Amino acid sequence: MATKGRPRPAALEVTQAPSQDDIGVEARVVAGLLLNAALEKRNGLDEALSQPAARALEPVDRAFARAVAMAALRRLGEIDQILNRRLQKSPPEAVRTLMRIALAQTLVLETPAFAAVSTAVKLAERDPKTRPYKNLVNAVLRGVGREGPGLTTAESNLPDWIAARWKATYGEAALAGLALAAREEPATDLSLKPGVDPAAVAAAVEGEALEGGTVRTGRRGDVATWPGFDDGDWWVQDAAAAVPVRLLDVNSGETALDMCAAPGGKTLQLAAAGAAVVALDRSAPRLKRLSQNLERTGLTAEVIAVPAEDWEDDRSFDAVLLDAPCTATGTFRRNPEVLRATKPAEVAKLADVQHRLLDVAAERVKPGGRMVYCTCSLEREEGETQIIAFLRRNPGFRTVAADPAALGAPPEALTPEGWLRILPSMWAEHGGLDGFFVARLERVS
Ligand SMILES: C[S@@+](CC[C@H](N)C(=O)[O-])C[C@H]1O[C@@H](n2cnc3c(N)ncnc32)[C@H](O)[C@@H]1O
Repeated sequence: MATKGRPRPAALEVTQAPSQDDIGVEARVVAGLLLNAALEKRNGLDEALSQPAARALEPVDRAFARAVAMAALRRLGEIDQILNRRLQKSPPEAVRTLMRIALAQTLVLETPAFAAVSTAVKLAERDPKTRPYKNLVNAVLRGVGREGPGLTTAESNLPDWIAARWKATYGEAALAGLALAAREEPATDLSLKPGVDPAAVAAAVEGEALEGGTVRTGRRGDVATWPGFDDGDWWVQDAAAAVPVRLLDVNSGETALDMCAAPGGKTLQLAAAGAAVVALDRSAPRLKRLSQNLERTGLTAEVIAVPAEDWEDDRSFDAVLLDAPCTATGTFRRNPEVLRATKPAEVAKLADVQHRLLDVAAERVKPGGRMVYCTCSLEREEGETQIIAFLRRNPGFRTVAADPAALGAPPEALTPEGWLRILPSMWAEHGGLDGFFVARLERVS
């Protein structure tokens, strides 16, 4: 796709007659289902993956279907720019889905054009609703193959309201960086258990050790088959997600509360630092993964399924982590669907929840203790605004400034207040990282 300032990938070429074009047809049906489920609602893609249509596929085909849907989600704006230029009027959604899926394959995943085009036409033929559009599907896709996709803009992949927000908050240059970050599939980051050598893990997974101790690898596929997984040497955790616990800086023998803990990457870090950890989460199913990871890594924590505000226990802690539920707009590289699933009203709704949970967390901090608040959201209402309001409500707390260099965080993430505002466009030379807001507070009275 020719995007301003980026190298243009090879155009679509129909080089070979389809020989086995039935292979993969079902995978493309599922790719369309996954794409539409993701566009419909939050967690739609994951839910659709557990439905019979997806489960009936061989693992390799299911992985392909997911990859196609993710590619379509990441580049949806650009794909639609290409289609809209070639369509005189908008076709039924089912037809657009077929074409989106085909272009995601040819333009992003570099699937051979003959396979993508012929399966799209075959799929159009199968359904009486799309059958009348079979020739259109064929003509449009072959047209793109012959003439190339034309100019597209990375910003088109962001919903308008989100682009407008980020432009107002971070400026035009940052918006351009965020849009470029949103096009790319991220690497996988691993956090290591203490005593495990980052250089050895990096060598074993063909990765690189980043500042802060995270190992980053371009490997794909089932992490459970990677070296060191069964030994519990590491867990998957984005480099930015590892920063909040480093900032909390717990020591062996201290008590720590992880108030919204599941699926548990940060609990593992706290336990690995030697703290006596209590991990709360309102979702028992999400905590299951946490317990599995504790078992695999040989780390321990007291795991309790309860909404934090209902936890009847009078303990207070040296260190409290509140990784609050949020819109998760900072995770768009790994979860491109969050940008489509998040609706403007949700920002205010989740900000209310965060406000409430911050006060609950504050009550659990011992005098002289500390708390880290973080969210993987790029929205100020879920970050800076929360802490400004919290400090106003709680004069017994003060901000402690973060030192990005000591935390493995990009230096430009430091705000004038001493908080961290990590943007996915930072560390572009290493392939970026998730967006996070992180602030450390101390109870002074
Ligand atoms: C951002 S996620 C936490 C991610 C986790 N800290 C990690 O590193 O893997 C937010 C979590 O908050 C939980 N949650 C939402 N409301 C809650 C509440 N009132 N009490 C406790 N947990 C809550 C959700 O179930 C979700 O697992």
